[in-house]
Formats: sequence, C-alpha cells, structure tokens
Amino acid sequence: MNNLVNNLVNNLVKRSWLLLGCVALLIGCSSAGGGSRVVDLTAPPVGLTVASTVASTVGSPPVTTPAPETVAPDTSITTNSAHPDDAPTAVTTPSTASPSTDPDGIGDPLFPALGNPGIDVQHYDIELTFDHAADTLTAVVGMDIRFTETRREFTLDSVSQEIDSVTVDDHPAQFVKDPQELRITPSSPAAAGSTSRVTVRYHQKANSQTHDSGLPTGWFTTPGGSYVLNEPDGARAWLPSNDHPSDKATFRFTIHVAAGVTAVANGGLDSHTSTTAGDTWVWSENRPMATYLIQLLTGDYEIVDATGPHGLPLISAVLRQDRTAMQPYLDGMSAQIAFFEGVFGPYPLDRYGLAITDSAPGLAMETQGRSLFSRTDLDGNVSNSEEAVLAHELAHQWFGDAVSPARWSDVWLNESLATYGQWLWLDHLGVQPLDVVARQSLASRPPGITADPSVAEMFGFSVYEGGAVAVQALRLTIGDDAFFTLLRSWVSDFNGTSRTTGNFIALAEKTSGKDLTGFFHDWIYSTRPPTSLPKAVPG
Ligand code: ARG
Ligand code: ZN
Repeated sequence: MNNLVNNLVNNLVKRSWLLLGCVALLIGCSSAGGGSRVVDLTAPPVGLTVASTVASTVGSPPVTTPAPETVAPDTSITTNSAHPDDAPTAVTTPSTASPSTDPDGIGDPLFPALGNPGIDVQHYDIELTFDHAADTLTAVVGMDIRFTETRREFTLDSVSQEIDSVTVDDHPAQFVKDPQELRITPSSPAAAGSTSRVTVRYHQKANSQTHDSGLPTGWFTTPGGSYVLNEPDGARAWLPSNDHPSDKATFRFTIHVAAGVTAVANGGLDSHTSTTAGDTWVWSENRPMATYLIQLLTGDYEIVDATGPHGLPLISAVLRQDRTAMQPYLDGMSAQIAFFEGVFGPYPLDRYGLAITDSAPGLAMETQGRSLFSRTDLDGNVSNSEEAVLAHELAHQWFGDAVSPARWSDVWLNESLATYGQWLWLDHLGVQPLDVVARQSLASRPPGITADPSVAEMFGFSVYEGGAVAVQALRLTIGDDAFFTLLRSWVSDFNGTSRTTGNFIALAEKTSGKDLTGFFHDWIYSTRPPTSLPKAVPG
C-alpha cells in the first residue's frame, strides 16, 4: 500500500506542474479499488516532500528560514483567551514574522504585501471581457469601499494590470501603478466611516499568475477556455482588489465571452444573453466571500441544476464532453452534504455544486459555493481517493468559506478541519476508521508546525494531516459533546466573517470550560507535537 500511495503521488508530481494542497489529501486516501480497507500511512512524509518538490518545479520557491522548535503563540491567543467573546483580532500585529516591510500591506505574517490599510470592500461589481483568441482581458471593476480611517491615498492589490482610469464617486482620481499595488489619490480625502464607489478600468494579458506562494496562482488560459485559481494571492493577478481573506465582500460578475461560450462564476446565475457578437453571463454571490475563493471559468460548459437536502440548490458546471461521465459525482453531492450537515450543522451557504474544468491534474479548490476540480482527476468511477477530495472541498464550505482565516498564518483552520471532514467521510463509508488514520498520520508526521506555518509549509503535511491529528487530539481532550458543539458554533457564530486561531482557541475554551493553553501549545505551536494521542475523556 505504501507503494501504491507513493506511486499515486509520484505520478501526480510527474504529470502535474500545478499540484495543489490535495497532494496531502491523497496520501491519506486509499487509491482506486484495490480492496484494501485501511491505508498504511507509515510511509515517509510524502506530503511535505511532494509539496517542496512542486514548489521547486514551478520556480521561485519562497525563501524560508528553518522553523524553530517551538513558536511563541501569537498575541491574539492571549487576547482572545482572556476575552472569549471574540472580537476578531486585528490583522496588524504579526508576531512570529518580522514586522511588515511593506507599508501598503496590512501586516499578514506570510504575505506582507497583501491587503490595504484603511479600506473595507463591501461589494465588487466586475465586468470583464475575455478574448480567448487574443488572450486578453478588458475589465471594469466597481467597488463599494468603506474607509476605516481617513485617507488621502489608498491602495489596492494589483499585479499585471494596465490601468486605464480610476474614479472615486465618479470623480477622476490620480493613480500610480506600482509592481504590486495600485495607488489611488481621490480628488478629496476619504473620511473615516464614509463609503465611496471606486471604479477601475483596466486591460491585461489574460494568462497571468503570481508566484509568491511558490505555486502559480491567478488566471489560467487553457486550450478550451480559462479558469482562475487564486489561493492564496492570485486574485490580484487579474483583479485589482483587497486581496486578503480578512476582507470579505459580496460579488457580481458580468462576463462577456465569444458566441456560444459559457462563463461561470460563484453564486447564482442572474442572466444569460446571447447575440451573434457574443454571450454575456451574469452571476451574483450574495454571501460574503474572500477574493481567494472566487470562481471564474469560461469554456464549453453545461450548467447542471439539481436539488440537494431540504431544497438546497445544486448548480454544477461540467464540460459538455464530460456531461455523462461526471454524472456519478453530481449524484454523490446530496449524500455528502447531508452527512456533513449531521456533524457540522446546516450547510452554511446558499448553494453548492461541482465545477470540473480542463486544468492539469492535481487541481482541487474550495471555490465558494461550487468546488473546483480537474477533469483529469475524476475518471468517472468514484474511487476512494476521489471521495476524499470531494469531501475535503465540501467540508471547506463550512471551514474556510463560511468562516475564513483572518490571516494566512491561520490557514490550518481551513485545511485541518477540511482534512478532518474528509476522514469523517471515509470513516462513514467504511474505507478507513478515523482513529486509525489519525494514529497513522501522527506516526508518519514529520517535524513541522501546524499553526503559523511558513509560506513553504502552508499547504504541507503539518497543516493538513498534522492539523487534522491536532483536531482529533482536541476531540479526545474535550469529549464529543463539546467538540461537535465547538465546530457547529464556530460556523453558526462566525459565518460570513474571518477569524484567527486565537478566536478558535477562545471558543474551544468557552465551549469545553477547560484551559487549553497547554494543549494548543503542544499540538499546534510545536514542531514536534506529542507522539501519541491523548486518552479520550468521557462524553
Ligand atoms: N485549498 C486547496 C485545498 O486544499 C489547496 C489550494 C492550494 N493552492 C494552490 N495555489 N496550490 O483544498
Ligand atoms: Zn483544503
């Protein structure tokens, strides 16, 4: 089985230049068929190896310093443990990284250039024309921006755009395009508490990516169309925006494409108009969404409508050539949603669906309300590894999408809980008992930190499997009642917002009535967590 898993991963590496976090998912999964019920996870730390292999195959891997043995918990933990009632922690005080050197960022410990001080985007109205033949985008984005401080000048995250004009409340504004920022000076200063409509017109080469995370993110033009993969910092490669997960907003997408082409974005389809000159598709996402969760696809897609548990709309997008082959995956959504509702609480968004695109293998992403997969990873026979990836991205709708990380160093809140969801689903199917996979993952866990990882570690084993082991350890420490109450309250209390690890710890302490300082120190802030899981408390 070791070999099977290793081969699977190695094949993926060979075939894939775009290998995503699901690498780590696959290690924990039985590969297709084979009859083996339990996967041997005592293999070497493939996830980490693979993640770094991939980072180096895509060029410019981030420079990282070796993680210290233990890392002092961030200040938010103290703050939030003392005040379990949860105000989201400001993102401006990173503790484990040196202070931001980029005055235009908001101090994200991993991506100091991301985010923009003094602004809070409420809504994006994006109108974009994609010329596939020329590989260009021509766009106008209108943003309703609330100023959180008085600003003479403000910035947006912007890479690759040629800016044509900027207006603020219909008045022309001065602007300067820096390599990673669009610097805007309104004709009069924006007052703290005021809201303005900021409109940016731009054009650019469509197929544009950033590489600051070590993985290419942004807009990908394919032979048959295009897709975006933004996590963590790729939205700014095609959209001037406040490209940080602490700023969630609603979105409207108006996409112009060639005649007969389909364009797909998050949310519900408001309209589709077709003329000989081209087609226009309008989609709206009315739930707050982080920019890294944007879905935008163009190509020969069919939109497939269905209904899930208690009338939940299921809107999927599959390439017309794959319509029949992909039906088993569409048929599987309702049972998975119903299962996760049983453990995590009601589905937290307005709709769900699958989008199965023509990307290189290895693509899986929890784009909000409709997860994104590569057609080459779904072969029509629903294997255990496919079940795992489908469950992982669905679980992210609760963990990551409804409740988003306040800083990229909080990404374990996304990935460990989605991995835990994936384990719960495989346990439910009878593929792998959860306690077995947790023990095996712990046994094969390489040294590495779960919370506050480096950029190179953020999609690696210690965040995914290592984090899911920490979640299992938490469950054993506080008991099932408190544990499932915690997960449900996390989503019901904080849906639509962005939260820190400190907020999670505070809620865990409040829900369980226990001081968990030592627990979290050992399990998420140590590069060498305990070597065995705690004994289960009753309940
Ligand atoms: N959040 C995705 C998943 O685990 C991984 C995306 C990683 N991003 C990237 N650009 N590779 O489900
Ligand atoms: Zn994930």
